[in-house]
Amino acid sequence: AIDPQFHENRENVDEHEGHTVWGPVDEPEQLGIHGTHVAVDFDLCIADGACLEDCPVDVFEWVETPGHPESEEKADPVNEAQCIDCMLCVDVCPVDAIDVDAG
Ligand code: SF4
Ligand code: F3S
Ligand code: ZN
Repeated sequence: AIDPQFHENRENVDEHEGHTVWGPVDEPEQLGIHGTHVAVDFDLCIADGACLEDCPVDVFEWVETPGHPESEEKADPVNEAQCIDCMLCVDVCPVDAIDVDAG
């Protein structure tokens, strides 16, 4: 499962589509965590798609990740600022790749 303390245990290494990327990143095999309030561990995501289907405010969009061992697309939290903290995505992800800091 995603480390809920990722913001303490990982380094901010990049920006992508307006959100932070938390390393380590070694493309294409290792992609890190995308987002902070809504964080998706790209190295765990298997492209199940339940988060995209269920999010009521369309926080996620697919991003292509060819060459990644788990899946060749990932749910990217491009609209994380719109999150209403419903926690649906956290509940439906089969591999616990998502952390939402509802604080
Ligand atoms: Fe969307 Fe709810 Fe997940 Fe926020 S917590 S990203 S609103 S499904
Ligand atoms: Fe990936 Fe989990 Fe969504 S596997 S596509 S983050 S439901
Ligand atoms: Zn991203």
